[in-house]
Amino acid sequence: MIANEHKFLEENLTRINKALFKTLPKKEISRVTEAIHYSVMNGGKRIRPQIILILSDILNVEISNDNVDLIAAAGELIHCYSLIHDDLPAMDDDDFRRGQLSCHKKFDEATAILTGDAIQPLSLEVLTSIEDPNLKDDTKLKIINLFARACGPEGMVEGQNRDILSENKVLTEAELDEIHYLKTGKLIEACVMCVCLIKKNIDDITVKKLIKFSNKFGLAFQIRDDILDEIGDETKIGKPIKSDIKNNKSTYPSIIGIEKSQKKAELLIDEALEILNELPFKTDKLEFLCELVINRKN
Ligand code: IPE
Ligand code: IPE
Ligand code: MG
Ligand code: MG
Ligand code: MG
Repeated sequence: MIANEHKFLEENLTRINKALFKTLPKKEISRVTEAIHYSVMNGGKRIRPQIILILSDILNVEISNDNVDLIAAAGELIHCYSLIHDDLPAMDDDDFRRGQLSCHKKFDEATAILTGDAIQPLSLEVLTSIEDPNLKDDTKLKIINLFARACGPEGMVEGQNRDILSENKVLTEAELDEIHYLKTGKLIEACVMCVCLIKKNIDDITVKKLIKFSNKFGLAFQIRDDILDEIGDETKIGKPIKSDIKNNKSTYPSIIGIEKSQKKAELLIDEALEILNELPFKTDKLEFLCELVINRKN
């Protein structure tokens, strides 16, 4: 059972990495394109594109697998860009990412800024260039709008802004939930929403349930990230531990402690699973992803 479940993740991963590679400019063009390859084709759990592939499969969307993969790649590119900037000295100042030097350490700060700057529009370029008889132009526009909003000034960027402003302050749980939603949850929500946009004749109730699912999942994902920052194994998470403590951030463990944080993540995942149970589809692959989120070591 578990072996089979891992198999679908592996198969998806191959599709995702292939699509990502296809979207990138040639590595040899410049220092920036070299850094793009370095920062994108470097492992990573690929959770966001996994959600897109799995949900597209569950809903049996009408567009081709290759085009699902390109949409998934676009979502992952936005995430990769956010990680490069997140590690910069002016942000979290972390020297390692995905088990290797962070982009600004391997190259330099200017290259890392430009690499992030380049990857973000690249994701939008990928979305605009998708051609599929079952994907109307106005749906494509809606998907682009969705991702742009998820990472823009009222999305991930604002989450990152509040995250930095919150250093050396003690936040309430509600304030932290809002930051986690903005910096992490919105992009995960967009990955779910874009599949809903592609699926013809999907009903509003299902869409609402899936959004609710993504919000529980997204918060649990970031809480587990906060926990791993304190008790994770650096060789497994591939990035420095205690980075949040170094920067005096408000995190779930800093506000309510490790144990309660883990309980909260588990509760959120229980609620996410309940929502999946209400859906008239076979959701076992998403359920498996839910289990991974709260037990993950990387
Ligand atoms: C790290 O994301 C940053 C967060 C938003 C928590 P991931 O844990 O998905 O990082 P990768 O992509 O697997 O490296
Ligand atoms: C980053 O959150 C969220 C992003 C938008 C990149 P973190 O700062 O906690 O992510 P890690 O722990 O560095 O991966
Ligand atoms: Mg950060
Ligand atoms: Mg960070
Ligand atoms: Mg973190």
